[in-house]
Amino acid sequence: MTVENEWVPALLHWFDETKRDLPWRANHPRDPYHVWVSEIMLQQTRTETVKDYYVRWMAAFPTVSALAQASEEEVLKLWQGLGYYSRARNLHKAAREIVLQYHGIFPDTLEAVRALPGIGDYTAGAILSMAFGHAVPAVDGNLLRVMARLFGISDDILSLKGKRIIGRIAQTVIPQDRPGDFNEALMDLGATICIPHVPRCGSCPLKDFCTAFLENRTSELPVRKKKKAPTIYEVTSLFIRKQGALLLHKRPETGLLASLWELPTFLGKTEKESRKEAERMLGTVEGKIIWTHRHVFTHQIWQMTVYLGTIPCSLPDPSYVWVDEGTLGTLPLCGPAEKCLAACLPGVILTR
Ligand code: ADE
Repeated sequence: MTVENEWVPALLHWFDETKRDLPWRANHPRDPYHVWVSEIMLQQTRTETVKDYYVRWMAAFPTVSALAQASEEEVLKLWQGLGYYSRARNLHKAAREIVLQYHGIFPDTLEAVRALPGIGDYTAGAILSMAFGHAVPAVDGNLLRVMARLFGISDDILSLKGKRIIGRIAQTVIPQDRPGDFNEALMDLGATICIPHVPRCGSCPLKDFCTAFLENRTSELPVRKKKKAPTIYEVTSLFIRKQGALLLHKRPETGLLASLWELPTFLGKTEKESRKEAERMLGTVEGKIIWTHRHVFTHQIWQMTVYLGTIPCSLPDPSYVWVDEGTLGTLPLCGPAEKCLAACLPGVILTR
């Protein structure tokens, strides 16, 4: 296949005219720390949601060194509600590495950037192109979708082969003089026009160059294989208060929602199974249901029932703690706990 690139000027012209005004695009030249934090936040999270988190984060940790000096609890607290907390933990770890290895100055080679915790090919490409002007594509879902349509590629865009083919094309066409704008233009085009289900081809600056549009194949492309269905759990949580304190559990340091705080929570295949486990760990579960919720993670769904529990005679281990209700706002709570407490303890401050 010959790789055509005459559509690139049309893309960049469109970007110059229409680019979205976003907080992480405010400074010129772009600071690698700003690009890095915004790109990590934008993984798996909507742009609108990220805006406020990004502004709060930069106010609290304006530099790599400030982030490196923060405690993990402070970092997780600012991340509360964004989900996928390993992203925050890796930002923190990488900031400490940058301070130790590079005196707080963000490295500018692909090898060094790629070696930092939590930075994959996509994020490395985004940082190097946007902050340092290196011609490295940032291959994310948007770029894969736009390119698959533009070049009429019918390989699965989630497969290694599909990603490799498109990655090579992107590497060939990325302009040396505006690599960061090229990557961000594709992100904007993918987010606003070349959207997943019904693309807005009528407004697309690339329609005259687009194989899928010209061959009427926009509904077939891109090809993506179906994901495995998530596992569904019936979950029992307990809401137990004692003299102005609430019983909370700190989750283990690895795995789903690592190190975050939750109401004592027990999973089972059936409601009976999870309730039995709750009783085994913490004693009788009163019949009164105070909240129900369905929480969807990437690979799991929790069908949650929160019961009023009775005060246990003893706590099973030190990860169970009585927390004064006035200090709940200082702990990094996991999503389901934050939602439940917002509903069941109105007036208690849950964010700092
Ligand atoms: N999504 C991921 N990165 C982005 C960026 N830099 N601008 C807008 N949307 C994005």
